Order: sequence, then structure tokens, then C-alpha cells
Amino acid sequence: MSPAVDPPVDLAALREEYARGGLAESDLADDPMAMFRRWFTEAATAGLHEPNAMVVATADADGRPSSRIVLLKGLDERGFVFFTNAHSRKGEELAANPRCSLLFPWHVLERQVRVDGTATPLSRADVAAYFATRPRGSQLGAWASHQSRVVAGREELDDAYREIEARYPDDVPVPDEWGGYVVTPEAVEFWQGRPGRMHDRLVYRRGGGTGTWDVVRLAP
Ligand SMILES: Cc1cc2nc3c(=O)[nH]c(=O)nc-3n(C[C@H](O)[C@H](O)[C@H](O)COP(=O)(O)O)c2cc1C
Repeated sequence: MSPAVDPPVDLAALREEYARGGLAESDLADDPMAMFRRWFTEAATAGLHEPNAMVVATADADGRPSSRIVLLKGLDERGFVFFTNAHSRKGEELAANPRCSLLFPWHVLERQVRVDGTATPLSRADVAAYFATRPRGSQLGAWASHQSRVVAGREELDDAYREIEARYPDDVPVPDEWGGYVVTPEAVEFWQGRPGRMHDRLVYRRGGGTGTWDVVRLAP
């Protein structure tokens, strides 16, 4: 490796030994959503900061990837729900290529969960129902920010916010460009750190029959 340029810390020496526990096939629930609920509850109970923060990776029609953090806002029989601007970079990419990947980085528990799946836009009714639960400030922000567009400066955003605030003194309607997705999993990997980098990786993959799952173990 070529020498690092003035590193703030010795990056090569930064490492942790993972020893909190293991993940055996016998620990798994029958389906990945039930298993996810179990691990999510453990993450929330452990007091993790924003355990519902997940990295959403998308790719455009040419396969160029991008990722960002988004909050998981629901789990239903179809999968993992989040809300965002449908005209954002991620929204445009999902319109061109609905395949995406979600990652929950639960470092403190020495765990990560990866979901590979396909995003489907939520109905306007589902989007409106969630929008109504958001604080007024977030509702106004959704109008004021054409997410992922280039703006002239901070002032443009602040002006837009003030204008929307004045336009909607009471209820704030749902902006057309605001939406949500449900990601239906094809594969869900549960990863638990182990000593000596001999981690446990168990992956549910959709089986032949509807609602059936196969489990495989991957080398760490
Ligand atoms: C902790 C955290 C939570 C976030 N939650 C959301 C969210 O739920 N929805 C959203 O659109 N953006 C959320 N963001 C902002 C996104 O990371 C991102 O900046 C934005 O969605 C634009 O992404 P894009 O240009 O790749 O589409 C969150 C950022 C952080 C750091």
C-alpha cells in the first residue's frame, strides 16, 4: 500500500475483535421478515441510535451505483417501507431500475443485515397516510426541497420554505413528488461478527414455492 497522506489516525491499525455471540442455523426464524423483526427489536432494545437508519443502494439504467441513508418507516407482508422524493436521484434510479439493496449497519451489536430486493412505489393513499403523521416542519420541507436538484444557495431553500409556510398556514397537502417504496426481498443476509474474522453469515433466498425460503451459509 502506498503511504497515507497525513492520516488523522492510524487507519491500518483500527480494528475490533467481534465476540458478542454467534448465529447458528437453529437460531433462525422460519422467514426473513420474522427474523428481521427479532433482530430489529434487539437493536432497538439495546438503545442503538436510529436503529431504523439503513443504507439504500440503487443503480441507474447503466448500472452506476449510489447509496444514501434513509429511515425504515414500516414493515409489512410485502417488505421494507421507506419514504422519499420520487424525483430525487434515488427515485429516478428506482424508476429506471427497481432493483436495490438495503443495509442495516448495527455496529454496536456487531451485526449487519442486507436486503436485496425490488422496490415498488407505494399507493398515494399509503403515502398520504404517512405524510399526515409527519411534523409540520417536515411536511413544509418536503414542499420546499426538490430533493437532489442543484440550488443557487442556502437562501433559495430558506426562501422556498418561508413561501410554503405562508401558503399553507393550516394543513399541508402531500406534494406530488413526494412518495414511498416497499422493497420486497429476494435475499436477506444476517451477519454476526465472530472472533478471528470467522463471522456467521446466513442468507435466506427465495425458494421455488410461493413464500418458501432456502437458507445458505456464506464464508465470511
Ligand atoms: C439518518 C438519516 C436519515 C435520513 N432519512 C431519510 C429519509 O427517510 N428519506 C429521505 O428521502 N432522505 C433521508 N435522508 C437523506 C438521504 O440520505 C439523502 O441525502 C436524500 O434522500 C437524497 O438522496 P439522493 O439524492 O441520493 O436521492 C436521511 C439522512 C440521514 C443521515
